[in-house]
Amino acid sequence: MLDAFGFKLPTEIIGAPGAARDLADICRRFGEKALFVYPVQLADLAGAYLNLLKDAGVALVPFEQAEPEPTIDYIDGAAKKLKGQGIDVVIGFGGGSAMDMAKALAIALTQKEGIWMYANLSNRPPLPLEGAVLPVITVPTTSGTGSEVTPYAVLTKPDTQQKGTIQEPAIFPRVAVIDAELMVGMPKGLTASTGLDAFAHALEATINVSKQAPMAELFGKEAMKLVFANLKAATDQPGKLEYRQNMALAAALAGMAISHRGTTTAHAIAEPLGALTHIPHGLGVTISTIPVLRHTIEGAPEGMAKLWREVCFGEKLENEALEATAFVGKVEALITAVGMNKTVQTIIGTDECQGLHERLIDSIMKFKFRPLKQHPVEFDANSLRPIVRDIIWGPK
Ligand SMILES: [Fe+2]
Repeated sequence: MLDAFGFKLPTEIIGAPGAARDLADICRRFGEKALFVYPVQLADLAGAYLNLLKDAGVALVPFEQAEPEPTIDYIDGAAKKLKGQGIDVVIGFGGGSAMDMAKALAIALTQKEGIWMYANLSNRPPLPLEGAVLPVITVPTTSGTGSEVTPYAVLTKPDTQQKGTIQEPAIFPRVAVIDAELMVGMPKGLTASTGLDAFAHALEATINVSKQAPMAELFGKEAMKLVFANLKAATDQPGKLEYRQNMALAAALAGMAISHRGTTTAHAIAEPLGALTHIPHGLGVTISTIPVLRHTIEGAPEGMAKLWREVCFGEKLENEALEATAFVGKVEALITAVGMNKTVQTIIGTDECQGLHERLIDSIMKFKFRPLKQHPVEFDANSLRPIVRDIIWGPK
């Protein structure tokens, strides 16, 4: 059968160093009053852009986000305080969490029910939106999440330690202002883990077996090439704009890839891992990727063998298993080169890992069923056990 193809992206992308200095004009396209969401850690950088917007006459409601990965209670509480303030547009300025928070507030400020009702869960569909939501502008300060161009917002439900995702075309950002100048201050570890999250998006969207999406594959492969060529340099020379710009492009391409064909097993593991341990998303994905790929080679080497040839331009080897192994070796070498060859144990300590193995397996099977089904090998609780052991403790 021939491959069907299609692509839809309602987000205008402005990807130029210095582009965020035009934020006031972009903002005014959508109204007079902007809610400006930024993380507390970026107060100084955000303050400079808040002043710029204020000087240009934009009415502002600043919102300093205190929770790094916002819970549904935090979002609903914020929406309660912000409702009725005449907000026309929401700006998400920061990493994935700030952009996701902006998207969640765009819904929460216009809808009746609590935000969790709009998450798309494996055991129930989301509540349909009533009427329009507020337009969202994204201004990423990291290169990884891709949230600047996706219709996704990840939420945490603290009582069940569950992560859920809103998947709503209505929250596709209207404009993504991708300004590499905002990324030069990113610390080395964050540069590495967010860049590897972008790589995982590209990889997982490319090997995802759920549906035909040749354009997503095209973007995914290009994003992987960019990460291979630029991530190490971006961590070694943080002030060099060229590497930041290339990583910003990689993250956006990978974000577009997952907007059209979602993530698979490393994300299915990293999200509950984050909910249980508070390991940040990019780091959780990074440490899950190699164990997942290693356990994929035997059952389905063809996708990774193809990437060996088409992304790494590797020589033809005797069989697909060898080519897939060579590809995984390249990914592992990159992870090691940027100092991210870690395990859960090396990040949170041995004591915190006690009992985690089974709790994590339970959580993966309970909450993240869909991405697991999209992986080239279908894992169940039993076949996940050695993978999760490797993620927590390292290979035997
Ligand atoms: Fe991710």
